[in-house]
Amino acid sequence: MYDRILATAQKTPLLRLTRAGGKLEFNLYAKLETFNPGGSIKDRAAFNIIERALDRGEIRAGATIIESSSGNMGIGLAQACAYWGLRLICVVDPKTNAQNINILKAYGSEVDIVTRPDPVTGEFLQARLNRVRELLNMHPNSFWPNQYSNLDNSAAHYITMGEIADELESKIDYLLCATSTCGTARGCADYIRDRSMHTQLIAVDAEGSVLFNGQSGARLIPGHGSGVVPRLYRSGIAERCIKVSDLDCVVGCRRLVRKEAILVGGSSGAVFSALERIKAEITDGANCVMIFADRGERYLDTIYSDEWVRTHFGDVSHLWEEAGASLEVQYACSWAF
Ligand SMILES: Cc1ncc(COP(=O)(O)O)c(C=O)c1O
Repeated sequence: MYDRILATAQKTPLLRLTRAGGKLEFNLYAKLETFNPGGSIKDRAAFNIIERALDRGEIRAGATIIESSSGNMGIGLAQACAYWGLRLICVVDPKTNAQNINILKAYGSEVDIVTRPDPVTGEFLQARLNRVRELLNMHPNSFWPNQYSNLDNSAAHYITMGEIADELESKIDYLLCATSTCGTARGCADYIRDRSMHTQLIAVDAEGSVLFNGQSGARLIPGHGSGVVPRLYRSGIAERCIKVSDLDCVVGCRRLVRKEAILVGGSSGAVFSALERIKAEITDGANCVMIFADRGERYLDTIYSDEWVRTHFGDVSHLWEEAGASLEVQYACSWAF
């Protein structure tokens, strides 16, 4: 029983995956952040940022909340602001999909669209941040959640890691999570460090993201990856980083839906592809946890559209169809016996 919708952003399921990785000598789990009320891991960060700022009196009556987000964080903030009766202006860019904009509006948020990338960096993210600063100046009673620097962002994921640790009695050998603001990675890393756990944190980042000394480049799939190095990033935050391509995300997502019947977003496909890349190195009997950050419904026009995939990558369906076919044979056999 919960007293408000925001309180339901917790205790998401930890699911054991027995099919997608093939025959494994280690235990593979997915933390399904897709079960949060707005459909993503960012609900936790958004709700915590708003509620802690309210507790501290940093958000005053009648305040306007202003943030840059092209998706999940905006939706999390839109829920929190609707609940607490706050005005939200969400700064997005032309790459934000129409469904996300409609969801923001459905919660009563205002959407401010920047039309051009920042002339200096060429990045839309920088252009959005510039616009946030402009809007903050225009609205004296305003609050900027600043998800890239706010420790209440990472603190929310400290709790996520605590939930995983409780489920697995703190025996977590590998944790794979996607990175953007680094709130998730930082919160989990802080928990691991504070409890002297032996967990290896593996950051999964996009090719074209500047995190982990990456080179800035074009990216098609939103969610993970960043055009700026956030303050929440600290050196040693992860034992290692695996960079994945847009195609890796698609293949990961398509394999997950075919084999496990889980419809997840691009960064979850990225994390699963990263796991596929390193699975031969994982020790027998280990507990390996992947964080699946959001649901697949917001990617129906991209990752799950055959036409979109063909346009960007050509005919690549064999990369997941083979996987599905072998499972069908296995399933048929188990019935035959
Ligand atoms: C789908 C998805 N995956 C991963 C991330 C990365 O999470 P974090 O910002 O905590 O690094 C985000 C952040 O917005 C996201 O939307």
